[in-house]
Amino acid sequence: MPAATIDIVREYPDDTWSADGPTRAVEPVLESGHVLAFPHLSFDFTDGDKRFLDPRWADGKAKNVSVRWPSGELRGAAGEAGDLAALKALIVRFAEQSEGFALRLFPHYGGHLRRGNTSFRPVDISGAPRSWRQDDTRLHIDAFPSNPMHGTRLLRVFCNVNPHGQPRRWRVGEPFEQHARRYLARLVQPLPGAAWLMHAAGITKRRRTAYDQHMLQLHDAAKADAAFQRSSPQSHVDFAPGTTWVCFSDQVLHAAMGGQHMMEQTFYLDAEHLAQPESAPLAVLEQLTGRRLLSS
Ligand SMILES: [Fe+2]
Repeated sequence: MPAATIDIVREYPDDTWSADGPTRAVEPVLESGHVLAFPHLSFDFTDGDKRFLDPRWADGKAKNVSVRWPSGELRGAAGEAGDLAALKALIVRFAEQSEGFALRLFPHYGGHLRRGNTSFRPVDISGAPRSWRQDDTRLHIDAFPSNPMHGTRLLRVFCNVNPHGQPRRWRVGEPFEQHARRYLARLVQPLPGAAWLMHAAGITKRRRTAYDQHMLQLHDAAKADAAFQRSSPQSHVDFAPGTTWVCFSDQVLHAAMGGQHMMEQTFYLDAEHLAQPESAPLAVLEQLTGRRLLSS
C-alpha cells in the first residue's frame, strides 16, 4: 500500500466555458502543482458528432486524432473527406473553447500562451505499451526525448467525453520538489558535445539543455523504479464523464490508468510569464543542483 495519500485536486463549480464563468485568476493554485478539476464542465458532442466516439476514426498508426497548430492540419484520422472535415471542426471547437477558458482561469498568461496540439483520443488506453519508458500507467512528469522544452511549461486541458459513464482513471503523486530531491543524485550533467551531436543527427528538434536532460532523467528514474511506483505518496483520481481538468503536466506526477474517449489541449508557456516563476521545474532544479540549466 502507498505510504501516504496526496491531495492535489481542487474542484470548481463552473458549468460554462464562456468568459462569464465564476472561476478566474487561479494561477497560484495551478503553479503550486495542483490539478484543477471542473466536474460540471462538459464538452458536448452534437448528435451528428457522436458517431466519432469510436476508435475506428483513428488511423491505426496513431492512437490519437489531432489537429496541429499553427497549420490547423488534421493528423491520425481515417475516413471520407466530409467526415474528416466534421471531425476536424469538432477538435478545433475544443481548441477554441479550452483556449478561452484557460485565459479566463489564468489572465496573467494573456498574450503568452501558445497553442500546441489538440487531440481527440477515442482509443482505450489499456493497450500494452511498447516499452516501460512509454508506459504512461507509471507515475511520471511529461518530458520528451526528441522535443527539448528549454524550460517552457506544458499546460494541459483535458475533458472526459466518454458516452458510457466510464471515468478517466489517474494516479497523481508527490510534489515536484520532493520528487526532484528523491532522484537528485541521478541528475547528471550532459556529456560535452552530446547535445550538439543529437541535434546534428536529428535525434532532437533543437539542442537538449541540461534542464531537458534532467527532466528526462526524472521521467525515466520514476518509471523504472517499481518501489516508487508502488509505495510513494499517491492517490487514485477518477474523472467522470463531463469533467474537465487542468494541470501543468511537466510538474504534476501523473499516471493514466484507464479510460476511453478524451479531449486534450496542450498550451506552451515560457516560464518567465508565470505569476510565480520560482515555482517552475526549471527554478526548482536550478536551486537544487546549484547550476544554471539552460546553457548547454
Ligand atoms: Fe503524461
